[in-house]
Amino acid sequence: MKDNYGREITYLRISITDECNLRCLYCMPEDEGCLAKDSSLMSADEIVEITAEAVKLGISKVRITGGEPLIRPDVIDICRRISSLPGVKELAVTTNGMLLKDLAYPLKEAGVSRLNISLDTLQTEKYTKITRKGNFQDVAEGIRLAAKAGLTPIKINTVLIGGFNDCEIRDFGELTRTDNVEVRFIELMPIGACAAFPKHAFVKGDIVLREIPELVEAENSGVARMYQYPDGCGRIGIISAVNQHFCLSCNRIRLTCDGKIKPCLHSKEEVLVKGLHGEELKKALIGAITNKPAEHVNLTYGYVSETERYMNQIGG
Ligand code: GTP
Ligand code: 5AD
Ligand code: SF4
Repeated sequence: MKDNYGREITYLRISITDECNLRCLYCMPEDEGCLAKDSSLMSADEIVEITAEAVKLGISKVRITGGEPLIRPDVIDICRRISSLPGVKELAVTTNGMLLKDLAYPLKEAGVSRLNISLDTLQTEKYTKITRKGNFQDVAEGIRLAAKAGLTPIKINTVLIGGFNDCEIRDFGELTRTDNVEVRFIELMPIGACAAFPKHAFVKGDIVLREIPELVEAENSGVARMYQYPDGCGRIGIISAVNQHFCLSCNRIRLTCDGKIKPCLHSKEEVLVKGLHGEELKKALIGAITNKPAEHVNLTYGYVSETERYMNQIGG
C-alpha cells in the first residue's frame, strides 16, 4: 500500500533482538542500559503474525536485523516461517557475521536468500577495537561460508568513520576486483552512541570516489549509488544517508524487537502492534504506513537524529 506521500511501502525490516554479541563503538554503549526487558520482546509467533498481516498490505521484501539477529535461538524457525509466507519474495538478513560458522547453511535452508554483513575494517586489531570484542577471523570465515552456502550476492556494510577507516577505502575496494561482493560504504549517521563523535568522524561518502578515481558508474541498487572497477568482479556502493538522503523514494517500515512499527528510522513516532490481532492489527499497520513522515531532519554535523533509540534498538 501507499503512504500519504504516494510512496509504495514494500519492505519490512524486523529487529528480532536488540542484544548483540559485539559492542561497536558507534552503535551501542558497553553496558546493558539500552536493552529492552525480555518480557517486552516479541515471540516468534508474534513476529510471524505481524509479518503475515503486513504482507497482506503489500510487503514483499523482509529483512531480519538486530542487534545481532543470529544470537536469537529461534532465528532459523523465524526465517523458515517468514520465507514460507505467500507474498514474501525476498528474505534477507543483516548480521555481523560472527556466528555464520554454524548458521550459514541453516539460514540458506530456512529460505534466506542473501546476507548483508557489517565489517568496518580489514585489520585484526582495529576490528577488535571498533567492535570492543569481535574477532576478525570469525567474520572473515563467516563471509567465506556464507558465499559457499549460496547466500549471495553478499553485501559488506562498511560505516565510514573519519580517522578510523577512511585510510582503508582502497583495501576494501580491492575485495571487489576478484570476488563477486558488494562493498557498501555508509555515511555515519548521528544517532545513539556516535551522536557525540567529533566532527572529523563524519566524512562524506563521496570521498570514496576521490580515493578510487578508477571507478566507473554501475546500475544503482536500493539506497546505494553503485560503482565498479572497469575490470572488477564485484561492485562498490555509497550510501549517503546523511548528505544525500533518500526519503523521497523510501519504501520501508521497521518493526522493533519490542513490537512497535517505526515508520521512519530517524523519527520518534512509533505504533505499538504487539498484542494486536486481526482487524485491530491491520488498522494499526495501515495507520503507521499512512502516516509515515515525509522525510527526516537534517543530519549533517551539529544535528542529531530525532529517534530516542540507539541503533541496536532499531537494526539500521
Ligand atoms: P539491501 O536490501 O541489500 O539494499 O539492504 P539495505 O541497505 O536496505 O539494508 P542494510 O541493513 O544493509 O542497511 C545498510 C545501511 O543503510 C545501514 O546503515 C542502514 O542504517 C542504512 N539504512 C537502511 N534503511 C535506511 C533508511 O530508511 N534511512 C536511512 N537514513 N538509512 C537507512
Ligand atoms: N550510521 C550508519 N550506519 C550504522 N550502522 C550502525 N550504526 C550506524 C550509524 N550510526 C550500520 C551497521 C550495520 C547496519 C545495519 O547499520 O554497521 O551494517
Ligand atoms: Fe552489534 Fe551491529 Fe551494533 Fe556492531 S553495529 S554493536 S554488530 S548491532
